[in-house]
Amino acid sequence: MAELLHIPDTTDRAQRYAAMLPQLKALMENEPDAVANMANCCAVLRQTFGFFWVGFYLVKETRDKGQGTRDPSPKGTGDLEYSANPIFHFPSSDGQELVLGPFQGDVACTRIAFGKGVCGATWQRGETIVVPDVDAFPGHIACSSLSRSEIAIPLRRGQKVLAVLDVDSDRLDDFTVADKAGLEAVGEIMATLL
Ligand code: SME
Repeated sequence: MAELLHIPDTTDRAQRYAAMLPQLKALMENEPDAVANMANCCAVLRQTFGFFWVGFYLVKETRDKGQGTRDPSPKGTGDLEYSANPIFHFPSSDGQELVLGPFQGDVACTRIAFGKGVCGATWQRGETIVVPDVDAFPGHIACSSLSRSEIAIPLRRGQKVLAVLDVDSDRLDDFTVADKAGLEAVGEIMATLL
């Protein structure tokens, strides 16, 4: 089935989000599959705004879980480092990490630890992070040297972060208050579908 997006011919991003959001909702409303919906969401955002990279990182059990003893450091201490034990590398985020989901753009890193990079920090803080200049963000993970600015939105159910929607631009300081509001609205729609 062909799905057409109707986006106004304007550079005003707020107007573009306003036109796009009901169409995004309509596109998802009869589809229960989360992967299909995330994939189409990436396509909608890329088609509407031409972003350099758009994708989801999903909070999942770490692949090492079950292969050894957990890091005995107390939980909830804010310790973001992996265990110092060279054999058992478990994150101190309850055995979970971000794993790459559906995306559009260049090849990207597949796993991100709690608190690491822009996406891991978004998961940790549970709030949107706007990065006008990725080189100025301590610990930024550079999946592409062409990425210059970034915005990451947590997808939450209550207080729990289920995923992070990450958008990169190849232009410095590309994300405005309209992007933050628009992408947070996208995040709210998508969080109900995970
Ligand atoms: N820059 C992100 C990593 C993901 S890529 O940009 C696709 C980060 O620092 O978490």
